[in-house]
Amino acid sequence: MSELGFIRNGIVEVIVSTFDEAHRPHAAPMGASTEDMRSIILKPFKSSQTYGNLLKWRSGVANITSDPSLFYRTVFKDANPGGELSKEWFAKASIVDAPRMTNTDVCIELLVTDVEESEDRAQMLCRVESTLMLNRSYLPHVYNRAAPAVIEGLIHATRIESHLNAGRPDKAEELITLVEHYHRLVERIAPDSTYSEMMDDIWRRINLWRHIG
Ligand SMILES: Cc1cc2nc3c(=O)[nH]c(=O)nc-3n(C[C@H](O)[C@H](O)[C@H](O)COP(=O)(O)O)c2cc1C
Repeated sequence: MSELGFIRNGIVEVIVSTFDEAHRPHAAPMGASTEDMRSIILKPFKSSQTYGNLLKWRSGVANITSDPSLFYRTVFKDANPGGELSKEWFAKASIVDAPRMTNTDVCIELLVTDVEESEDRAQMLCRVESTLMLNRSYLPHVYNRAAPAVIEGLIHATRIESHLNAGRPDKAEELITLVEHYHRLVERIAPDSTYSEMMDDIWRRINLWRHIG
């Protein structure tokens, strides 16, 4: 799982496919975390259909892709031709009672082993049963919001320095607000990682420029 880009105690983004009440394929994006690289924790809102499906069948598949259109089409099912997800996107998983996606890079089959409920969300501990690599043309990587957040932070940081040097503190402050947002995001989804180290350093440099300015 670490080779696929999962980070201990951080959050990465997957598309969870499940069967609905009538055993029809269903899919929606979910954040996924791991503490031990052998199991995955999902935190579906109890209002989501995915939550009900996982509870009923105790099975799901975490599909790995970086294709934004797959995230988009599995959030807004009505944006698909015919107003629903195509059946061709799914095949039966090999071990668990869930569909896997056919157009993603990797499918991780999951069995739900423990469920803890809070008011609006559930925490579902899922044991990894099998991993199927669909795309072998490159090393697939799970989508991690921390990586683009660091790049956004870097782009803004370069502009902040030039705005401050040119005596445009208002413009600099606008961008500093954005970097602050990415800094907090990375601290939450990738704590104690190389991403959070880079983000801390970007933030340290911005504070230095502010003082010098
Ligand atoms: C990248 C991404 C990550 C998401 N993570 C979660 C999550 O961890 N838990 C959750 O309940 N919803 C999450 N969502 C929102 C659900 O995917 C969205 O509400 C979806 O419509 C639920 O579909 P369903 O009701 O068909 O299960 C996420 C959305 C995106 C785009």
